[in-house]
Amino acid sequence: MLVLGIETSCDETGVALYDSEKGLLGDALYSQVKMHAEYGGVVPELASRDHVRKLIPLIREVCQQADLQLSDLDAVAYTSGPGLIGALMVGASTGRALALALGIPAIGVHHMEGHLLAPMLEESPPSFPFVALLVSGGHTQLVRVDGIGEYELLGESLDDAAGEAFDKAAKMMGMDYPGGPLIAKAAQTGDSSAYKFPRPMTDRPGLDFSFSGLKTFTLNTVEAAKDDEGKLDPQTLSNIAAAFEDAVVDTLAIKCKRALQHTGFKQLVIAGGVSANRKLREKLDEIVRKERSGLFYARPAFCTDNGAMIAYAGCQRLMAGESTGLAIQTRPRWPMDTLHPLGSEQPEGGAQRG
Ligand code: KG4
Ligand code: ZN
Repeated sequence: MLVLGIETSCDETGVALYDSEKGLLGDALYSQVKMHAEYGGVVPELASRDHVRKLIPLIREVCQQADLQLSDLDAVAYTSGPGLIGALMVGASTGRALALALGIPAIGVHHMEGHLLAPMLEESPPSFPFVALLVSGGHTQLVRVDGIGEYELLGESLDDAAGEAFDKAAKMMGMDYPGGPLIAKAAQTGDSSAYKFPRPMTDRPGLDFSFSGLKTFTLNTVEAAKDDEGKLDPQTLSNIAAAFEDAVVDTLAIKCKRALQHTGFKQLVIAGGVSANRKLREKLDEIVRKERSGLFYARPAFCTDNGAMIAYAGCQRLMAGESTGLAIQTRPRWPMDTLHPLGSEQPEGGAQRG
């Protein structure tokens, strides 16, 4: 089954072609980050308009890459939530209309299910069941995964997501958006022991997270370290970046270890933009080795938003006989644990509930 995947939930237009037999055949991405950087965050209306400009050319590009025509497609998968409503509508209406014109099925995919399954596109994929840490700009969740659509939320952030904490801390340090990769870069030349940042909620039982206190701590540290002209010297900036990154990584790692022990599972999957973080991967690698478990993640380009994960996730559900009706539905808020197991009975109209 050849599936075109479309991702437009936030500030990246992603398109890919996934074939259930041959694997990934084409993949193209346009990132809007430069456009949003000057505003210090994503401007929803600008995001929607840019998806409109870029989506069709990217669909043409992946077809060319794979030397295929639209008429070769068996189905279309698009992100239908969660995300920015206007941005989602561009991908959903384009994907739905294209499928209608071609007389093939379409399916609305949950963005976080896409992230969760992205490591399945790698050479040594995990097998069910496993524990997943989903860490993106909008989500920080620990999930017990027994199969596609069989998700039990074990813990989540009570306030900011980990990626959001990176982005806000970066802003305080005078860095651009998105801040995660920039903090990671600055941290490389920093000494994390120069500051002692808290590890929020790690001294309490449970698997929830909280990053807002860390944000306040960062703001106070940055302000106290500024010179008389309100500037930070580069080494101090790197030290703060390293101490902040260590605090987030340690906090996530402590809860991952707890989740592995709680479930007794031997596989840990990390997905979403923050899973591209090298220090997080190194720290979790140490932990899984001690727990005699395995760590799985996608290549960096498939940790952040992309079309391949949507094509893959959509393909799995389509092959199980699911599809979404003709109505163009988007769900800006859509809890992942309301998804149904692969191929199980669906509500009328397709794969989306509510
Ligand atoms: O999954 P994603 O591309 O979009 C959402 O669904 O939110 O995640 C974007 C987030 C941003 O907050 C960004 O700062 C963060 O992932 N991120 C990183 C790194 N690369 C991206 N955070 C820390 N270290 C990185 N290397
Ligand atoms: Zn994402």
